[in-house]
Amino acid sequence: NAHPPLDQLRRPIHDLRISVTDRCNFRCSYCMPKEVYGEDYAFLPTSELLTFEEIHRLTRLFVSLGVSKIRLTGGEPLMRRGLPELVAKIGFLNGVEDIGLTTNGVLLGQQAEPLYEAGLRRLNVSLDALSPELFGRMNGRGIKPGFILKQIDHAIETGFEVKVNMVVQRGLNESEILPMARYFKERNITLRFIEFMDVGNDNGWSFEKVVTKKDIMERLQSTFELEALDNNYFGEVAQRYRYKGCKAEVGFITSVSESFCSSCTRARLSSDGKFYTCLFASSGFDLRMMIRSGADDQSLLEAIRNVWEQRTDRYSDDRTEQTVRNRSKIGMSYIGG
Ligand code: GTP
Ligand code: 5AD
Ligand code: SF4
Ligand code: SF4
Repeated sequence: NAHPPLDQLRRPIHDLRISVTDRCNFRCSYCMPKEVYGEDYAFLPTSELLTFEEIHRLTRLFVSLGVSKIRLTGGEPLMRRGLPELVAKIGFLNGVEDIGLTTNGVLLGQQAEPLYEAGLRRLNVSLDALSPELFGRMNGRGIKPGFILKQIDHAIETGFEVKVNMVVQRGLNESEILPMARYFKERNITLRFIEFMDVGNDNGWSFEKVVTKKDIMERLQSTFELEALDNNYFGEVAQRYRYKGCKAEVGFITSVSESFCSSCTRARLSSDGKFYTCLFASSGFDLRMMIRSGADDQSLLEAIRNVWEQRTDRYSDDRTEQTVRNRSKIGMSYIGG
């Protein structure tokens, strides 16, 4: 077999983030603002979604080019019917070392067990606040944090390793940083603070609304002592810290203040089968069209390799007020973060 591909910045391809649906039962303002994703929003019809067969086939090809980590995302991945079946199929692929799932947690009550039985072990659950009023407003559906916390407990009892993702926005949920840190520290659950990003074209982003790692650190250090930890693996997105004197960890995802493009080894597959080489891409390569017009594995492999070898993406390294305004980007709910 030929050598694994490197892109123009000599980055290999290690991770595949697969979006399994563009739908979501939340309307987070930073991702699917209600004004855009209203009652009459045209989500993809089922016929345009990749089938599990197609996802499985493409994943196998990506794995043969160097991918070993898979992440299932959405929209809300638990809204895709039969998801455990896909998890099992992918888990059986030779070369897949890790599968994770990113979810808002609402449907874990019904799905934690079947997913665990299918072989899934890692969940990242999004939760932006512990205040019921604020969280209800942020998720756009009035869902209470207590409900998500119950789903998290349930997932942990089922055997999952759970991390929590919190997107922090200036003037909105900064006051939740310490309460969230306290709550998850006590339970030894890793909380990751995510800098608000300019994904999509309509999420109201500006540099002023970003609460940086430095800002968050200052708040945390008023109460806790933290020590830096090494990354778990090359290209890990989160910077990790441990609370002194206990096992609990926190993480920071600093896509704005300290971008990490130089070690970005992530490919993305949208729910309708487009291959994107950056979260901030404006267009993707249509693998579904190739598959459905009968392409064989060899030509699919060559196409994937070519796209990766042409890759020059480093959006977050170059982010300025200009790039934020002038680029038409794909939606986060469609590409899956
Ligand atoms: P693990 O470390 O395997 O648990 O997963 P992860 O942190 O990579 O995945 P998750 O879906 O939980 O993503 C956390 C945050 O990191 C989300 O806000 C993602 O949008 C963001 N993120 C993940 N990959 C990238 C990337 O390549 N670029 C940017 N800018 N953000 C990313
Ligand atoms: N900025 C940062 N993180 C975001 N996410 C969604 N939209 C944004 C944004 N604009 C997060 C979600 C989820 C993960 C997949 O991405 O909260 O945890
Ligand atoms: Fe849904 Fe996640 Fe987007 Fe919120 S951030 S609208 S939960 S896909
Ligand atoms: Fe990778 Fe694009 Fe994110 Fe940079 S901005 S880390 S290139 S996905």
